[in-house]
Amino acid sequence: MSGGGSVALAAKWYGFDVLAGDVAERALVVARALIGNHLRKIQPADIARLLADVAYPLDHDDISLEKPYATLLAPAAAFPEPLQSLLMLTIVNSYLHVFPMSLPSASDSRHVISRDWDRISSRRVGHYLRVLNRPIESALISGAKSVNRSVLGGRGQVIEGSALDAIRGSGSDVIFLDPPYPGTSGYDDNYRKLDLLLGDKRLPEPAPQLDELFETASDVPVVVLSYGGPSVTLDSLVSQAGRHRPVTNAIAVPYRHLKSISKEGTNEFILICSDR
Ligand SMILES: C[S@@+](CC[C@H](N)C(=O)[O-])C[C@H]1O[C@@H](n2cnc3c(N)ncnc32)[C@H](O)[C@@H]1O
Repeated sequence: MSGGGSVALAAKWYGFDVLAGDVAERALVVARALIGNHLRKIQPADIARLLADVAYPLDHDDISLEKPYATLLAPAAAFPEPLQSLLMLTIVNSYLHVFPMSLPSASDSRHVISRDWDRISSRRVGHYLRVLNRPIESALISGAKSVNRSVLGGRGQVIEGSALDAIRGSGSDVIFLDPPYPGTSGYDDNYRKLDLLLGDKRLPEPAPQLDELFETASDVPVVVLSYGGPSVTLDSLVSQAGRHRPVTNAIAVPYRHLKSISKEGTNEFILICSDR
C-alpha cells in the first residue's frame, strides 16, 4: 500500500530496510524509482536520449491532454531499470501537473480539450494556460530535478501485488498498513486516466478488510495502522484493532484530504499495535 511512496521513503531515510508494495502500476513506478533504487539519478543526457526519437510536436492537442505523455512513456519503457521508472515518474509528474490539485479526474479538463474557456472558472483558466503553454521539455527537466531529490541511499525492495501476499512472506519486524479509507473518493477513480496511460488495466477491487490485514500480520511484532474516513472514529478503530493485539498508541491527526473540498474537523488516525 505504498501509494505515492512518502511513508516508504521516510522509512528508508530513517535507516529501515524497506519493502514497499502496491497493486497499482502508478505506485510501483514510484517504488521502483525511489525505494528499490538507491543511487541512480536522471542526468540531462538521459532526457536528451528520451527526447531523441519522439515524434514532434509534443504539444497538447485538441484531442486529448494525454497525448504528449503517452508519446514519451513508450520510449521510456525501453530504458533499463531503474532509469526506466525514474523517467516514467518524471513523465507522470509532468502529466499530473497539468491538472488542478494534480487530479486527472478534474471535471473541467474536458472543456480544456475543446478550449471552451467560458466553462472553466477564471482561476483554473490561469492554471491550465500556464501549464499548457509550458514547453514539455522544461516540465521534464524540472520534474527530473524533483525526482532526483528523492533518490536516497539506503536499503529497499519492491513487492508487486496484493498486500496480503506481501505480508505473508515478508518476515518483517514492523509493518505499516495504509489501506484506502472507506467512504472516501477512491484512488482508482481519481487516477483512472493515469492508470490507463500507464497501461494498468486492473479492474477496481475492494481493498482488504482491516480484520483480514491484522490476521495476516499476526506474526509481525509491530503493526502501525494509518486509517480514516467519514465513518471511522478513534474509539471504533482502537476497539477493532484491540481485538487482534494490544494498541500501545492511538492518535488523531487533524487532516483534510483535498482541503478545498473536504470538511473541516476531519481526522486521520494512527495506531501503533504491538504485543511486545
Ligand atoms: C492511502 S494509499 C497509500 C498512501 C501511501 N502510504 C503514501 O504515503 O503515499 C492506499 C494505497 O493502497 C493501494 N492498495 C489498494 N488495495 C491494495 C491491495 N490489495 N494490496 C496492496 N495495495 C493496495 C492503493 O493502490 C493505494 O496506492
